Amino acid sequence: MRGGVTQDSCWCSMGLGDIKPHPFLLRESKRDMSATSPVRPTLPVDILARKGAAPLVCLTAYTTPIARLADPHCDVVLVGDSLGMVLYGLPSTLGVTMEMMIAHGQAVMRGITRAMPVIDMPFGSYEESPEQAFRNASHLMAETGIPAVKLEGGVHMHDTIAFLTARGVPVMAHIGLTPQSVNTLGGYKVVGRADEGAKVMVDAEAVQAAGAFSVVLEKTPEGLSQRITQTLTIPTIGIGAGVGCDGQILVIDDMLGLFTDFRPKFVKRYATLGQTAAEAIADYAADVRARTFPGPEHSFPDVLPLKGSKP
Ligand code: KIV
Repeated sequence: MRGGVTQDSCWCSMGLGDIKPHPFLLRESKRDMSATSPVRPTLPVDILARKGAAPLVCLTAYTTPIARLADPHCDVVLVGDSLGMVLYGLPSTLGVTMEMMIAHGQAVMRGITRAMPVIDMPFGSYEESPEQAFRNASHLMAETGIPAVKLEGGVHMHDTIAFLTARGVPVMAHIGLTPQSVNTLGGYKVVGRADEGAKVMVDAEAVQAAGAFSVVLEKTPEGLSQRITQTLTIPTIGIGAGVGCDGQILVIDDMLGLFTDFRPKFVKRYATLGQTAAEAIADYAADVRARTFPGPEHSFPDVLPLKGSKP
């Protein structure tokens, strides 16, 4: 199913016997059990308060081990729908489902104690109406324990963002290049050059007025991004939007060199883990073929003499 809630899987249709600890409660209790170093998870209000202060460090994560690595260094960890492309090999983010987001959101929450997790609303799960958006946002939050959602769109999403924030759903907005609209935008192009810049500014003001606690600016020219950052009172988080934003975000698989199908200009590679992994796999294959793996150090000696063998 794409972008909806089936009756069978809906948390509100569960019987009492199905009730399990809420993921957000588990997160709280993990924090409280640490007597020596209590960790207070970051909340949307904390992100909002960082406007104009030290740059916000944001990364995507989709799994528990990567969330554990990102958590100590990041202010925001986004379970992005980019997972459709970097984990599932899809050609775009359009095929990402609610079920995929929930599974990866739950995995990420097992690895986070202090950063602020945010989860993307997948294509088809919020565009139809504010009510549809609330139903699916609350479902994502209930199933994962993630306290904030991200959705794409500016002026045309104003009413939806206002509807969600008025009902307790913190929203991170996403404007400029909005990858879920790749088919109407005509590709992954820079958005906001020349005349188009005024429209992006209007989008930015609209999502702020609607109550978004921050906004991602994707692939907007750096001067425009800086002007938007100076105009807004909520933090801007740039991806391909220049250094003048209040924070930066990258797709983790891009910056670690794990996703190598293509590299957008705005990606800086901090590691080449894909290449390291390919070399490790080739070494393993050679060892198996040469019978040099497993060695005695990876094997278990027999305790009793084998039947028929000489003492
Ligand atoms: O899906 C994603 O990873 C994103 C970030 C690139 C902002 O939306």
